[in-house]
Amino acid sequence: MLSTITLRKNMKTAIITGASGGIGKELVKLFLTNNWKVLAVSRNTKALEDIKHKELIVLEADINKKEDREKIEKLSDTLSPIEVLINNAGKLLNKPFSGIDEKELQEVYSANVFAPFHLIQRLLPQLIKGERGHVVNIGSMGGFQGSVKFAGLTAYSSSKFALAGLTELLAEEFKDENISFNCLAIGAAQTEMLAKAFPGYQAPLTAKEMASFIFDFATKNAKFINGKVIPVSVTTP
Ligand SMILES: NC(=O)c1ccc[n+]([C@@H]2O[C@H](COP(=O)([O-])OP(=O)(O)OC[C@H]3O[C@@H](n4cnc5c(N)ncnc54)[C@H](OP(=O)(O)O)[C@@H]3O)[C@@H](O)[C@H]2O)c1
Repeated sequence: MLSTITLRKNMKTAIITGASGGIGKELVKLFLTNNWKVLAVSRNTKALEDIKHKELIVLEADINKKEDREKIEKLSDTLSPIEVLINNAGKLLNKPFSGIDEKELQEVYSANVFAPFHLIQRLLPQLIKGERGHVVNIGSMGGFQGSVKFAGLTAYSSSKFALAGLTELLAEEFKDENISFNCLAIGAAQTEMLAKAFPGYQAPLTAKEMASFIFDFATKNAKFINGKVIPVSVTTP
């Protein structure tokens, strides 16, 4: 009985966006298996119905919408403190540069840069309340200096560069607070997004394998690493 109470008291909370599939859903499962409470955010919540767990809170929300971000903030107040926020939701556009219209560019930047920006702003008070908060932004090798680049990804990869930059700036601005900000510039993992962007290409990693790296990084490194953009890739350059 006592050990159950102690366990519950020590239970930490993670918020994961883009939780309905790919890497995000695998992350949700990993956090739960490792005794974390999880707030899983995505537009499609049906895809999470097969995960039955008492510490899972599923929130139907579009991170691009202000009113939905407010829902996330409200819920996070009740879960405080938040130890980990993983900005995993992302939008990919594979289209020649000249054909990209304003709306498409806006959509990509909204999901990959503006929404994480606003969410971090809103969740900051809960993230600095605990032992040490960790914001992990999921970037891309396409948004990492010196990596191989692909035609058609100007909007997507440049937005991931912006997310990486945001990470470094937040680490500087909040260096005296109880929080770390890092960006994982991940390489290819086999997900729906990758299959859509590169039909026929087989990634060297599954979503589960990539999630397991992200989980370890997010839960163990807040004290040691801050303000870094880390390439998670086995290929060169
Ligand atoms: N897979 C790769 O090879 C690869 C490589 C580099 C970087 N990444 C990055 O890794 C992250 C995860 O990608 P993935 O491959 O796992 O993609 P995925 O399978 O397409 O999953 C993306 C998730 O983001 C959610 N999402 C998208 N827009 C959203 C919004 N406006 N509000 C809430 N949720 C939203 C989607 O859920 P709903 O549609 O239900 O909302 C979905 O659960 C992304 O940031 C991606 O850019 C992936």
